[in-house]
Amino acid sequence: MTKVLFVCLGNICRSPTAEGIFRQMAEEHGLSTQIEVDSAGTSDWHTGHPPDPRAQEEARRHGINLSALRARPVEADDFQRFDYIIAMDSSNLDELCQLCPATFRDRLHLCTSFAPELGIKDVPDPYFGGSKGFKRVFAIIEQSARGLLAHIEHEQR
Ligand code: 4NP
Repeated sequence: MTKVLFVCLGNICRSPTAEGIFRQMAEEHGLSTQIEVDSAGTSDWHTGHPPDPRAQEEARRHGINLSALRARPVEADDFQRFDYIIAMDSSNLDELCQLCPATFRDRLHLCTSFAPELGIKDVPDPYFGGSKGFKRVFAIIEQSARGLLAHIEHEQR
C-alpha cells in the first residue's frame, strides 16, 4: 500500500482537488486497493468544512465528486503515516519542512515536480480569484497527478 497526502494552506481548494483527481486516476488504473489518498492543510482555518464550492464545481465538470471531503490540519503523525506528502506550493513545502522530522524529509515533494514539462513551481492559490483560477489549478494538478501516478507505478513494479 502506497499512501499519498496532498497538502495546501486551507485544505478547501487545491489539496481536496488533488485528492479527488488522484483517487479517480488510481481507480482508472486499477490501483484503488494499492493507493490510499488523503489531503490536509497547513492551517486549521477551515477544519471540518467541505471543499470550496468553486473547487467542487470544477471537479464536478470532470466527473469528480468532492462533496464528502472535510478539511483537516496536518498532524504530527502524518509524516510517518504517508509515503508521499505533496505540497501545492513552496510556502506549503516550507511549512511542512519545519514540521517534518528529519528522517521523513524525503517524503516531501512539490506537486509540480512530477510535471516538469509545465515549467512552473507553484500550484497558484485560487482562493481570492475567480473560476478561471480553479480551472487552471485543476489542469496543473491533473498533469502533476499523471506524473506522480507513473512514478508510483514504476516504484511498485
Ligand atoms: P487552499 O486555498 O490552500 O488551496 O485551500 C485557500 C483557502 C483558504 C484561504 C487561503 C487559501 N484562506 O485564506 O482562508
